[in-house]
Amino acid sequence: MLNFLINTLFKKKSKMFNVLSDKQIKELIDGELGINVIRFMEIVESMGINNTFVDLGVETGRSSKILLNNAIEKNNHVIGVDPIPAIDPTLLLNPNYTYVNADSVSTGENYGKDKSFTPSIIFVDSIHAKEQVLCELKSWWPLLKVNGWIIFHDTAWKGYIHKANHPCAGKLTGNTAKGYDTYGGIDWETPDFAVKEFFGLNELGQYEDKFIKVEHSAKDLGMTFIQKKRANDFSKYIANWKIVESRRNTLLKSFGA
Ligand SMILES: C[S@@+](CC[C@H](N)C(=O)[O-])C[C@H]1O[C@@H](n2cnc3c(N)ncnc32)[C@H](O)[C@@H]1O
Repeated sequence: MLNFLINTLFKKKSKMFNVLSDKQIKELIDGELGINVIRFMEIVESMGINNTFVDLGVETGRSSKILLNNAIEKNNHVIGVDPIPAIDPTLLLNPNYTYVNADSVSTGENYGKDKSFTPSIIFVDSIHAKEQVLCELKSWWPLLKVNGWIIFHDTAWKGYIHKANHPCAGKLTGNTAKGYDTYGGIDWETPDFAVKEFFGLNELGQYEDKFIKVEHSAKDLGMTFIQKKRANDFSKYIANWKIVESRRNTLLKSFGA
């Protein structure tokens, strides 16, 4: 009966995005997220029902669409966070999607005030700079559910030459990212440096201890998947948060924030 009602609703609201078609999956794999879309989709599928997922850095919404796949049937809710709107409007019609037009770090701090807020996937793909990702980790990692995953895009840039021209992510045509990127005349280390520093990892690769399980793919700009096995305050390993936060404030000026 429930399926019948949902199907009827979809026929009426056929323009509303909810389920990825094979064609859309292929387009996602051929796009910026690349082949890592497959593992990303597997993790979304493995989380089952009644979840909250978070997408930091939505742009047009490729990552949000992956998180939203079958969300209505599974009662999963997706929160997309981006201060610069460029989103595909069909996503906004989905009743299980909330779009937060704001900075990812302050949004994490706000959601963190509600102790019952425990997302099971957090996808991190906003400004591709170490200080941004470190601050996102500080505000979002404590909220992640045990057994949930935090997933980082853009963790293998070495030698990559930007082809995209999206100004929001600082991806200027022809910019060569050899482990750093340049905003406001400063060379910023890329997200992989933040992931390594925060979790105390020498390298990104396959890794497991009692707190985390790490999977890393260096393909297509890189994607790193970290599962929280047990709660741990990793933020205490960062020597000076004031310096990190002050550098992020400088970084934000390049984005008109
Ligand atoms: C690479 S794009 C995201 C791509 C998206 N995840 C996808 O799969 O299509 C980076 C996005 O980060 C957003 N962004 C910039 N500053 C941000 C901030 N402070 N907080 C969250 N997102 C931010 C930009 O507006 C841009 O849309």
